[in-house]
Amino acid sequence: MSGPQGMTGTVAPGRAMSTIEVVDVAAADMERFVAISLAFFGEAPPDEGLGTLHQTLNRSLVARLDGEDIGTAAVIDFQLTLPGGNRVPMDGVTWVAVSPVARRRGAMRAMMNDMLEHARARRIPVLGLGASESLIYRRFGYGVASHIGIAEIDTAHAALRVPFTDPGHVRMQALDGAVAIFLDIEGRQTDRVGGINRAESSWRRILAGAAKARDGMSPLQVAVHVGADGQVDGFVNYRVEQRWPDEIADGVTHVHELAALNLDAHVALWQHVLSMDLMEHLRAERYWLDDPIKHLLLDGRRLKVKSHDDLHLRVVDVVAMLQARRYSREDALVIEVRDPAAADIAGRYRLEGGLEGATAAPTDAAADIVLDAPSLGSLMLGDVSAAALHRAGLIEEARDGAVRRASAMFSWSPRPWLNYMF
Ligand SMILES: CC(C)(COP(=O)(O)OP(=O)(O)OC[C@H]1O[C@@H](n2cnc3c(N)ncnc32)[C@H](O)[C@@H]1OP(=O)(O)O)[C@@H](O)C(=O)NCCC(=O)NCCS
Repeated sequence: MSGPQGMTGTVAPGRAMSTIEVVDVAAADMERFVAISLAFFGEAPPDEGLGTLHQTLNRSLVARLDGEDIGTAAVIDFQLTLPGGNRVPMDGVTWVAVSPVARRRGAMRAMMNDMLEHARARRIPVLGLGASESLIYRRFGYGVASHIGIAEIDTAHAALRVPFTDPGHVRMQALDGAVAIFLDIEGRQTDRVGGINRAESSWRRILAGAAKARDGMSPLQVAVHVGADGQVDGFVNYRVEQRWPDEIADGVTHVHELAALNLDAHVALWQHVLSMDLMEHLRAERYWLDDPIKHLLLDGRRLKVKSHDDLHLRVVDVVAMLQARRYSREDALVIEVRDPAAADIAGRYRLEGGLEGATAAPTDAAADIVLDAPSLGSLMLGDVSAAALHRAGLIEEARDGAVRRASAMFSWSPRPWLNYMF
């Protein structure tokens, strides 16, 4: 089905049979690509223009039918941190949208196939994405690999259990110069499983509209923590929303991202956003579900957390992915992977691994567990247990006790946390 310009698909009945062609967009056309994609999503271009949007993309695809652009998808190159701290290249899939008048005719499928093929050709071991609806991507081999929280607390109830004395200090950081700090902290945060490393262009994109007020909120505020050694070791990005019902301060601090290299920086930055004058509430939309702040609060129940699926992973190279991560329990398992969409990814693999390292190779030995490609993706970061997938009918136990062993091996603590949804 693959043509010289990319993957193709056949349009379903209901319209004269035509072929959907997937075309790689030349760098010069990237700005137009973004404009088309936004239109398919039904969104207006951002105030700051399209310039910084397309600069974050490494590869952009357009699906065409009879010469007409009907769909878009793009890939951003990331490094994904796995349990144990190794980083692997990940193709981040984004900007997937199809024209409202061309949906359910296979345009997305053609683009998803193209991105899988392209990742394979470039020896990228895994693809990742965030789904607008969680039911869309399983059919393409993607499984939910991590979750994220939305956390809210009334700041009057945010006292810490033990008073915290900061050995360093927090200072505000001008937006100019912030990118170098973001890159530095992110590059050194090796223990953040499930996180990605962003290129400078992604950070510039994040800061593109930062100096402007938005949706009733202030411009983006950046605070950094300076350790006792004088080195910056964390940052928090937030906007404040002033609210004055009946002349009483009732504002909200909206935390976008908090990253810290040690516990002092972590607590100091939380304390900064929790103790803002005039802000009676705090809302964090990318809350780490294992954030220690929950346990540091005197009245932890006051921090209300709702969670949802976040990063979905599609394993492309089973051996590379199994070998790159570390395992909580030393053991060996034969895993049979079923993958109707990719016959050469399907097969039986013998995994032997623990905290120090892992080896994996194709094998003819009998399987201990049998699962499909999305379930393999779900196991990759240790956030979804093999036992839960088994109970849901998604993992078959071919040898007694193998699911319990797989759960012990693949589980990981602390929980993974994607720092930025792309
Ligand atoms: C989601 C979207 C990209 C799908 O594009 P599409 O070209 O209509 O999808 P396809 O025709 O290739 O569908 C492939 C399969 O996915 C299913 N599917 C696609 N979108 C679906 C949805 N939103 N809900 C349920 N199933 C969906 C199709 O029914 C089809 O099923 P099949 O495997 O049984 O044949 C399109 O509906 C869209 O642009 N939606 C708005 C933007 C959006 O949500 N983008 C996703 C961002 S993560």
